[in-house]
Amino acid sequence: MRPPSGQGIRLTYLLLNLASLCLPIPLWKDRDALMQEEKAHQTGGNLVLDKQEQQLSTKLVSLKEEEVATAMNTGLFPPSMHFFRAKSLIDQSTVFSILKRMPKGAVLHLHDYAILSTDWLVYNATYMPNCYICFTYTGTVRFRFSKPHPPHPMPAQCSEWVLLETYRKQLPNVTEFDNSLLRNLTLVTDAPELAYPSQTYIWRRFEEVFLIASGLICYAPVFKAYFYQGLLELYEDNIQYVEIRALLPAVYELDGTRHNKSWSMATYQEVTKQFVKDHPDFVGAKIIFTAHRMLNVSQIKDAIITAMALRARFPDFLAGFDLVGNEDEGHSLWELKDALTIPYSLGVNLPYFFHAGETDWQGTSVDNNVLDALLLNTSRIGHGLALIKHPVVKNLSLKRDIPIEVCPISNQVLLLVADLRNHPAASLMAEGHPIVISPDDPPIFGAKGVSYDFYEVFMAIGGMNADLRTLKQLALNSIKYSAMLPEEKAKAKEVWQKKWDQFIADLSDSFLREL
Ligand SMILES: *[C@@H]1O[C@H](CO)[C@@H](O)[C@H](O)[C@H]1NC(C)=O
Ligand SMILES: *[C@@H]1O[C@H](CO)[C@@H](O)[C@H](O)[C@H]1NC(C)=O
Ligand SMILES: *[C@@H]1O[C@H](CO)[C@@H](O)[C@H](O)[C@H]1NC(C)=O
Ligand SMILES: *[C@@H]1O[C@H](CO)[C@@H](O)[C@H](O)[C@H]1NC(C)=O
Ligand SMILES: *[C@@H]1O[C@H](CO)[C@@H](O)[C@H](O)[C@H]1NC(C)=O
Ligand SMILES: *[C@@H]1O[C@H](CO)[C@@H](O)[C@H](O)[C@H]1NC(C)=O
Ligand SMILES: *[C@@H]1O[C@H](CO)[C@@H](O)[C@H](O)[C@H]1NC(C)=O
Ligand SMILES: [Zn+2]
Repeated sequence: MRPPSGQGIRLTYLLLNLASLCLPIPLWKDRDALMQEEKAHQTGGNLVLDKQEQQLSTKLVSLKEEEVATAMNTGLFPPSMHFFRAKSLIDQSTVFSILKRMPKGAVLHLHDYAILSTDWLVYNATYMPNCYICFTYTGTVRFRFSKPHPPHPMPAQCSEWVLLETYRKQLPNVTEFDNSLLRNLTLVTDAPELAYPSQTYIWRRFEEVFLIASGLICYAPVFKAYFYQGLLELYEDNIQYVEIRALLPAVYELDGTRHNKSWSMATYQEVTKQFVKDHPDFVGAKIIFTAHRMLNVSQIKDAIITAMALRARFPDFLAGFDLVGNEDEGHSLWELKDALTIPYSLGVNLPYFFHAGETDWQGTSVDNNVLDALLLNTSRIGHGLALIKHPVVKNLSLKRDIPIEVCPISNQVLLLVADLRNHPAASLMAEGHPIVISPDDPPIFGAKGVSYDFYEVFMAIGGMNADLRTLKQLALNSIKYSAMLPEEKAKAKEVWQKKWDQFIADLSDSFLREL
């Protein structure tokens, strides 16, 4: 066929334009309705905001749009960058400053030795009297408090114990030394890609950070103060309630006396009571007892038996049980099933809060943890990155209304996802799958509270469509899916609602003043 001449093409366009003027093209007739339907699905899509909230929502979204536009110009979009490099940018963000002020409800996924900023450990705990240090052959340290004698036994592969007070006195530059201790207690570094070439490598370093911190935190006076200060830091980040995953290792006294797990539980409970007394607008805390997933079946059996005993002793304070450690290297839930089904066989109710699907390896035994966690009647799923690869399991979790605890910064630092726009939770949020936002181990990642994670979710994982309804829904979810009893939830909701109304009022005021 002869190609149409230039004249012919122009004529065709003219006719097409006329046609589109006269008849509606049926192609687009459902477009608006379909877009509305998608919006209704997303997290918070069904919430109805009042007038003032709606105005703020619009304002917040336009602030986000401004920050995204700037990022497109500079090429620096914090959620696409490694958090260690993004943090200083986030600190300058107006959206972030609003998220910090927002009452966020409950934090449901946080670990015992990673609650409070590392600064406190270095500038407060290591300056307490009778603190000893030793230097490992791999360039890290261990701590131990002791009196009258230096501590014994020596940790393997470590130098002699040195009294820190004496050691600091002979140093030319104590600031430099204290900075090195800060580095020991976090993963933060200028060039994370070089420092942590693989998941196995970073997990080894990550677990060592806990080991280093434990020498300080397991000393009874530090244990109490750390937890109190930790609750304070969460409270100051506008969090109203927290659930802590705790290994409950032996807490020790200066003379070497070691306390059992009941002591640690009772102490957590006392400190919580004291904190709530001092801060009546904080609702409280609960503990989820955890064991390491590297342990074998008979050791996990012991842990389960301990968990049942502790729950009998602290029924309202011990929420349940979980397994921690690198999922890819540890035992799968299936391998541990003989231990994990003990409560069920005995007719004992021990709620589970499993870390499951914190892996990129599809189709491995560990990848099935998301399924087995649900079959074991888990109350929530920690991380659950694998969930979107398992449509049937995802349906099951939706049917049972089991939420995913999404911890974006943790997932990025531990090398599961680099650009947080690509976090699997983006798809969960688009379809309104139940989720809550948590920080996992904020001080180890150089973060604080849960506001940084909310920033990543609001700016990137929820996309441009995430608005104030999204944020409000996430706060409401955190209370709904907590292990609080119904009357505790009602109280928490009431406390949160009051703070939320105040937040909306204050924010409206400050925006009005700006105009
Ligand atoms: C830990 O502290 C020691 C003692 O100052 C220092 O030599 C070492 O470099 C630090 N380790 C890390 C990983 O920063
Ligand atoms: C000590 O080290 C810090 C951090 O490296 C540095 O800023 C400071 O100037 C040093 N002080 C002295 C007296 O050298
Ligand atoms: C250490 O923390 C405690 C509170 O736990 C506080 O009373 C004390 O003043 C702090 N000390 C320093 C040196 O910051
Ligand atoms: C823990 O120690 C206390 C005494 O300090 C004791 O009464 C209690 O029975 C112990 N609990 C367990 C589970 O061993
Ligand atoms: C489990 O580990 C413990 C401690 O390492 C060991 O004593 C025990 O024999 C192991 N049990 C099994 C069944 O492997
Ligand atoms: C599942 O968990 C819920 C809540 O913890 C509990 O009420 C229920 O009895 C459990 N069912 C089974 C089969 O374990
Ligand atoms: C998930 O559930 C929906 C609605 O109940 C159903 O239509 C769909 O087929 C299910 N998908 C899978 C993979 O089971
Ligand atoms: Zn965790």
